[in-house]
Amino acid sequence: MTYQTTKLRKVVIIGTGFVGTSYAYALLNQGVVNELVLIDLNEKKAEGEARDLNHGMPFGNPMRIKAGSYQDCHNADLVVITAGANQKPGETRLDLVEKNARIFKGIVTSVMDTNFKGIFVIATNPVDILTQITREISGLPKERVIGSGTILDTARFRYLLGEHFQVDARNIHAYIMGEHGDSELPIWSHVQIGGVPLSQYAGIDDLYNHHEMAELFENVRDAAYHIIERKGATYYGIGLGLVRLTRAILNNENAVLTVSAYVDGQYGLEDIYLGVPAILNENGIREVMELQLNDKETEQLHHSSKVLREMLDVGLN
Ligand code: 2OP
Repeated sequence: MTYQTTKLRKVVIIGTGFVGTSYAYALLNQGVVNELVLIDLNEKKAEGEARDLNHGMPFGNPMRIKAGSYQDCHNADLVVITAGANQKPGETRLDLVEKNARIFKGIVTSVMDTNFKGIFVIATNPVDILTQITREISGLPKERVIGSGTILDTARFRYLLGEHFQVDARNIHAYIMGEHGDSELPIWSHVQIGGVPLSQYAGIDDLYNHHEMAELFENVRDAAYHIIERKGATYYGIGLGLVRLTRAILNNENAVLTVSAYVDGQYGLEDIYLGVPAILNENGIREVMELQLNDKETEQLHHSSKVLREMLDVGLN
């Protein structure tokens, strides 16, 4: 069956593990694309996932879903990479760098060989490093290579702040920036609840040295460890985050999301991918937003960038 559309909205997912399939399932539910191709080293798995998803189509949104091959990337709007080894209990995201950098070299080269002209979205960890590696291997312009970055950490932050203050998370403006990992940082100076700065709303003078807020941030930073300890992996949250990112791009929304973007000059940082608020539209990253950070935040962001730079040297070798 074919669907009448004015424009093909095609996404290829590479990697049909928990993250790739949660993303596919959420896409089917939300009706964001009209063609979805699943690629996996394990072709049988991709085929099984495509069939299973297709059987839910009458309950979801009309779209074409199939298992495919790299050739399907040639006219894709987005290629989303979720493939790679995942974090084991106790392992940091950066521990994965060597393993996944090797896997990515093969994947990205195969996609580029199809004359791919779309946008790469990277979700595999360590996401900031693998996004930078994807940019280098693909040679695509920086705005067309995007990592999921701190999109999920920011969502976790907003969720926990919402729970704490009993306010709808959608009315909370707050960002987590830097590495998607242990050196990430909360931008307390810009947290707002319904437009009111958090310090004023909560009557807290120093958000950085406030016990409950420190604990709340630790729960954001360590959320993946806590979940992996309990269920072995995280995937629903990131699956939904990837759908949000897909919508922003395919609907040309100019939405502000914290993604892993190439920073070259902003925040006094050079030539590095890390989580920053950015405006996203059909061209990818329209602009990296430069918040006015306080000294502590700037120092932490620079530290996070240094951590990533050191790991990049491992990944690029
Ligand atoms: C997460 O933060 C493991 O990166 C994954 O849930």
